[in-house]
Amino acid sequence: MNISNGQLWKYTSFTENKNYSFNKNEILENITKEQIDEAYSKISSWENYKPTPLLLLNKLSKELGLKKIYYKDESKRFDLKSFKALGGAYAVEKVTKGNKDITVSTATAGNHGRSVAWGAKRLGLKCKIFISEFVSDARGKAMRSLGADVIKVKGNYENSLIECIKQSTENNWQIVQDVAWKDYMLVPTLTMAGYSIMMKEIVDEINKEKITHIFLQAGVGGMAGAMVAGAARYLENIPKIIVIEPDSAACVMKSIESGKIEKVQIVRESLMGGMSCGEPSLVPWKILKKSVNNCISLPDDDIGRAMKLFANASFGQDKIIAGENSAPGVISLIASCNDEKVKSKINLDHNSNVLLIGCEGDTDQEMYQKLLKD
Ligand SMILES: Cc1ncc(COP(=O)(O)O)c(C=O)c1O
Repeated sequence: MNISNGQLWKYTSFTENKNYSFNKNEILENITKEQIDEAYSKISSWENYKPTPLLLLNKLSKELGLKKIYYKDESKRFDLKSFKALGGAYAVEKVTKGNKDITVSTATAGNHGRSVAWGAKRLGLKCKIFISEFVSDARGKAMRSLGADVIKVKGNYENSLIECIKQSTENNWQIVQDVAWKDYMLVPTLTMAGYSIMMKEIVDEINKEKITHIFLQAGVGGMAGAMVAGAARYLENIPKIIVIEPDSAACVMKSIESGKIEKVQIVRESLMGGMSCGEPSLVPWKILKKSVNNCISLPDDDIGRAMKLFANASFGQDKIIAGENSAPGVISLIASCNDEKVKSKINLDHNSNVLLIGCEGDTDQEMYQKLLKD
């Protein structure tokens, strides 16, 4: 079977950043080299730490005529099966500074809260998690099983955050939020410093090989911004940075287009739940606004098929558990290669070493099984 058949893989929009001007020093003003290095030194000393696998999608690279496609498999990250384990848990450790009497709190759609709850459990701290009524019971249960007190709030994520801030202020709990606002930048920055160790692990593994393209999924942009900061810290060359988002929540694309933070109204929640965010966060935005070359938005249509192909080892030698937020990288890459204009615009050819981030495994097992079956 020809997996990259042009009819099968769709993107909605492809745009270029008119303000592109990648500047390593400028990027590292937002997350410093010291913050990045400290995150690596701390996290790599945690019990059970080991770098997640960097796999080769060799069947796909052969078919697309690319040199190599690397896939960073975060389904193997600690117990949490997602890169998110690096962020919230690390921020918990940093802000509590060994004080065992602190209670940490956060508002979450799921994965960040799990990381905070897991980080609190590691350190024996109390933890309060605020979720909106729309967060699934399975996700709430997962955080309770990590010992957190999970509080359901009427309304959406925003309402859960307001309630979290209110109760945390009244009770003197330490908020560990991954999204930044004007007066709340340090903790989100630490969270991103935690994510950036993915880039350190990648660079250690590829040795002297050069990465030419990085496809980065974005919700509020934290992971993408962290990986760009990691690229600025660790890579000698400057790869092309392509941000990918659900077409129903392409807030980074819209912001890059206008040159300032823009909100999008989410009318339909994407299957790619972790990426269904309406507004970029402030710290990542400062990094992404000039360092992203291109943005791609895509529909949900091909997610299940891509997940199945990962599971069947159709893209490379390995069977990979790729959750719904892990699928859009490969879809965007195939769609880009199938469109001659896009392919030549971003210089995808036989010299290209592309990095894709498999940011999660089956973090929501019910959803994973359902999508594989459908
Ligand atoms: C599980 C999950 N949550 C969230 C995100 C988005 O991260 P951020 O909101 O930091 O952009 C991703 C990655 O795309 C993800 O895989």
